[in-house]
Amino acid sequence: LCGVCGIVGYVGHRPALDVVLDGLRRLEYRGYDSAGVAVLDGAGGLAVERKAGRLSNLEERLDEVGREAFAGTAGMGHTRWATHGAPIDRNSHPHRDVTGRVAVVHNGIIENFAALRAELEARGVEMASDTDTETTAHLIAIAYTEGDTAGDLAGSVRAVVRRLEGAFTLVVTHADQPDTVVAARRSSPLVVGVGEGETFVASDVSAFIEHTREAVELGQDQVVVITREGYEVTDFVGEAAEAKPFTVNWDLSAAEKGGHEYFMLKEIEEQPDALANTLRGHFVGGRIVLDEQRLSDQDLRDVDKVFVVACGSAYHSGLVAKYAIEHWTRLPVEVELASEFRYRDPVLDRDTLVVAVSQSGETADTLEAVRHARAQKARVLAVCNTNGAQIPRESDAVLYTHAGPEIGVASTKAFLAQIAANYLVGLALAQARGTKYPDEVAREFHELEAMPKAVQQVLGTVEQVRALGRELADSKAVLFLGRHVGYPVALEGALKLKELAYMHAEGFAAGELKHGPIALIEEGLPVVVVMPSPKGRAVLHSKLVSNISEIQARGARTIVIAEEGDETVRPFADHLIEVPAVSTLLQPLVSTVPLQVLAAEIARSRGYDVDKPRNLAKSVTVE
Ligand code: F6R
Repeated sequence: LCGVCGIVGYVGHRPALDVVLDGLRRLEYRGYDSAGVAVLDGAGGLAVERKAGRLSNLEERLDEVGREAFAGTAGMGHTRWATHGAPIDRNSHPHRDVTGRVAVVHNGIIENFAALRAELEARGVEMASDTDTETTAHLIAIAYTEGDTAGDLAGSVRAVVRRLEGAFTLVVTHADQPDTVVAARRSSPLVVGVGEGETFVASDVSAFIEHTREAVELGQDQVVVITREGYEVTDFVGEAAEAKPFTVNWDLSAAEKGGHEYFMLKEIEEQPDALANTLRGHFVGGRIVLDEQRLSDQDLRDVDKVFVVACGSAYHSGLVAKYAIEHWTRLPVEVELASEFRYRDPVLDRDTLVVAVSQSGETADTLEAVRHARAQKARVLAVCNTNGAQIPRESDAVLYTHAGPEIGVASTKAFLAQIAANYLVGLALAQARGTKYPDEVAREFHELEAMPKAVQQVLGTVEQVRALGRELADSKAVLFLGRHVGYPVALEGALKLKELAYMHAEGFAAGELKHGPIALIEEGLPVVVVMPSPKGRAVLHSKLVSNISEIQARGARTIVIAEEGDETVRPFADHLIEVPAVSTLLQPLVSTVPLQVLAAEIARSRGYDVDKPRNLAKSVTVE
């Protein structure tokens, strides 16, 4: 079971261990919970070593056991990050079948693994780990010895992947096939690297770019066999299939950023995956499950008040969630900056649920808020993106966001994932308390599940936002307005612009405009307005339309983010940025994206390093 992983496979003329370890090191930006390698020695042996923790732990382990057994020129490796399940040696990849002849590394989740595991146990197979991955090693080993697929590794892999549900990339080696590595892809990315007398597979071209720039991107539901001579692609049934060849024209440092100039730009693009990975596995048998939490349904029923405590963007994710959680659960929800919460003697008791939201899990203000809440006997649920960090360690329960490592200092994909995770908490509370019927909970979840697609659609249209960013690069200040869930989005848009472009930016609740901020409006001042849906919240929509007309009349340059087809707003928009129609509570997931792109582009145009804004650090471990 693996959230965000790095995978490398190799068949060629160099020592496979070196190639694989180098490849894994190139994927290091993904972070590590564990790492492992398998090497075919060419004489019928398959050596495997794996270790919890960073790659260096694995390397030390290899030095201890001696690297002689790893002298072959075919093999594979794996790193895993921020996963479900404990990062211990036994759960690390590669996993093997009972004979130790088959080894498998895996990225993704096999959703029907309980049934597969039961089937194997009924045959008397004993499991050596808690993972879903291990079941595939046994199934492939069995397919390789029985029936039509006997002796055919690719055929055996195809037969097994046809039975798997969920998202996965698998890489498989068999001791009987010392010159072959087989990989299968569904969902998570996999690329082949084609060299001279050597072939690679990896989750990312950075793993092999120092050896070759000729790459092939595998499509959905494809299986590839790599040998020294090249590669062969089929679909899951075994029909020849086409994969997309391309030449990598980035250098190594850009390759780690997926060809982007900055990690942040890559991370903006990873948001559909961040959402999908965060939601995956949390709706089972018609119910929301918070599998990583340790609060019972009874604990959730006892809750009579919710606090969300966090800093910066994570705080904004809490502001968004307040609208949803109160609406769904009828519980009062207070959202508070962790640095304020800690020092003002908030009213807390055993029935208070404190949701501490933190990407890094290390933020000192949030950690202190957690400690304070626990000392007052409140229950603390951490929403965190970093496995085993201090905040989840000190909380009663944890729900991980699976955004993958966020390297850019400004939060993007973690923010969207935090909103999704906070919503899961809200739905779990509604379900336990019975404030929503089961079919309503299911409907809300399925709407959330459709969001990766909607965000992908927004990403397809951001070129015009970039152009606008370049136009706005010389502005003195930018204002952001929103109402309802659009208000925290306005705050987030302003924060992104401040921190990246060092520009004065303010977010306001649009209704507050006339109580003061409207005095700031002057000729040419860019004002970004986050519109609600005209259908979902018609009253709010018409109020906001009048707000825009007021500021436009005073000379502001209006930049309006509105639902596609919202014609009423067109006359008031100097620039219209359209986003897909989604239900009101989910709008922040689409409307934040153009604001991230806008801030990044303004910053780039001003010549700033988007990944490392001045004066800021990725995790703020001092109060
Ligand atoms: C803004 C940003 C920060 C963080 C804040 C909390 O782009 O990244 O505001 O959101 O420092 O950090 P975490 O979530 O690690 O606790």
